[in-house]
Amino acid sequence: TDRYAVIGNPIKQSMSPDIHGAFARETAQDMEYGKLFAEVDGFKPVVDKFFADGGKGLNITAPFKLDAFDYADSLSERARTAGAVNTLALQNDGTLLGDNTDGPGLVSDIVNNLGWKIAGQKVLVLGAGGATRGTLLPLLKQQPAQLHIANRTAHKAQQLAEDFSGYGAITASGLDAVPEGFDLVINASAASLSGELPPLSPRALAEGCCAYDMVYGAQPTPFMRWAAELGAEVSDGLGMLVGQAAESFALWRGVRPQVAPVLTMLRDRLR
Ligand code: ATR
Repeated sequence: TDRYAVIGNPIKQSMSPDIHGAFARETAQDMEYGKLFAEVDGFKPVVDKFFADGGKGLNITAPFKLDAFDYADSLSERARTAGAVNTLALQNDGTLLGDNTDGPGLVSDIVNNLGWKIAGQKVLVLGAGGATRGTLLPLLKQQPAQLHIANRTAHKAQQLAEDFSGYGAITASGLDAVPEGFDLVINASAASLSGELPPLSPRALAEGCCAYDMVYGAQPTPFMRWAAELGAEVSDGLGMLVGQAAESFALWRGVRPQVAPVLTMLRDRLR
């Protein structure tokens, strides 16, 4: 039985063991998946022990994604550009590969579950923190017509756009200077976590726009309610959670699990 786990602080609330447990049953994989707690400054000893005891792979959640980035022996391109690692995978040669499946999980939820388009669309991302950084390369790879980052603090958005200029065209501004008419707006800011609405002009949303919030919960976020009132199709980020897990699972096990049944299970549980 191969062992996997998710490490975080706090960790009690994590749904990852339920998600990976369901994936393992569905694909008949002989594996177990647990939870690991570490003190905020105690990532390394806990992870050293996990792999010394024969562990095969880890998911990493807050606040340890930068620790995992430093811990990995090698990095995928998307982990390198994200500047963060949410998945560690033991390789045949005994080294640890650091990957980041958050962005691919988001893209997969948008394109495959929701059936929304990214390719050829005008895409706006709100926020310029770690969540945004993690999604820019996977979004660019879908070849949107335009990718714009808007942040409360404009210079952080401009810095991010500059950092990614080698991968494709990204424009940036403050939230108060967003161009008009986006087909897809992704809220990657932390505003929803404190029940706040990023101050965005309704003109940023094109007719028939789609609006995605990376946060999830029993109730729609203020951003989702605001966009829905303007006629947008909306989604929270529960599918991104399941999507990133599916990408990690595929990396570890070489099989791609079905996400839809697990998404339904979690949605029922949230209600
Ligand atoms: P994360 O890793 O989740 O992205 P972070 O790096 O702390 O977290 O970034 C939080 C992001 O949410 C930032 O872009 C922040 O804007 P600032 O750079 O101006 O601080 C944004 N944010 C947080 N609260 C917000 C709010 N109430 N309205 C708009 N943006 C907000």
